[in-house]
Amino acid sequence: MRIDVVTVFPDYLAALDLSLIGKARQAGLLDLRVHDLREWTTDRHRTVDDTPFGGGAGMVMRPDVWGCAIDAVLDGDPAGHLVIPTPSGEVFTQRHAEALAAEQHLVVACGRYEGIDARVAEHYRAAGRRVSEVSIGDYVLNGGEVAALVLVEAVGRLLPGVVGNPESLVEESHGAAGLLEYPVYTKPPVWDGLEIPEVLLSGHHARIDRWRRDRALERTAQRRPDMVAALDVARLDKHDRALLADLGWDEVDGRLRRRPGAVAE
Ligand SMILES: C[S@@+](CC[C@H](N)C(=O)[O-])C[C@H]1O[C@@H](n2cnc3c(N)ncnc32)[C@H](O)[C@@H]1O
Repeated sequence: MRIDVVTVFPDYLAALDLSLIGKARQAGLLDLRVHDLREWTTDRHRTVDDTPFGGGAGMVMRPDVWGCAIDAVLDGDPAGHLVIPTPSGEVFTQRHAEALAAEQHLVVACGRYEGIDARVAEHYRAAGRRVSEVSIGDYVLNGGEVAALVLVEAVGRLLPGVVGNPESLVEESHGAAGLLEYPVYTKPPVWDGLEIPEVLLSGHHARIDRWRRDRALERTAQRRPDMVAALDVARLDKHDRALLADLGWDEVDGRLRRRPGAVAE
């Protein structure tokens, strides 16, 4: 996969030389290119922004500079998918990461100041290109670089060969099961007086799987009731349903609903 990131702070993306993503780049699994937006400016001051039409605080990034930059990095590639991080975008989830990981070429346009002139997204959509405006959460950052790091990390680790043991992607939080992951432990078995759950030392795989599933259900019910409400009831076994009922979740018309008055523990 190829990912181009365009930013006024290319050094911000240096972290992508590290760890698994850095290794994936070296191994040729991910062709990641970082570009300085100012390369496409034409004035002496290398200006990328201007005052907002209609007035107001701050500066807006110019569409002409962005248009030249995006055209150049797309390089006529019809598969190029434009991703614009913005706090007003759709909230980025694991489902978006999975969909983007199936693409061949992403171009990530990092905004600064009050953001990128709205005509940039409009122009590329009108040209028939896929454009995703995504938010990494309900808060406002100073620029799109942190969002680009998040996107590249979340997408990159799903590419074949990037994570050494693909099994470790299977049971993760936000995976196909729709649950948060169960708690995990390692050595020493007793730390600061705290023991690990005995079942994990039993060597009994079926019991360990059940224990993990129960903890995942409990943790999800406690921390992310929205995820419990979205579970596919048909994929829950009898034990899951009984545990969820104990936790205050009843099946109503094929969906799980929290019993009025039930308190998440
Ligand atoms: C200060 S923000 C602009 C905020 C904009 N005025 C608004 O209220 O929607 C500057 C840039 O940071 C990035 N950014 C800020 N918060 C973000 C978020 N939650 N998700 C993704 N990108 C974000 C975007 O690239 C945005 O163009």
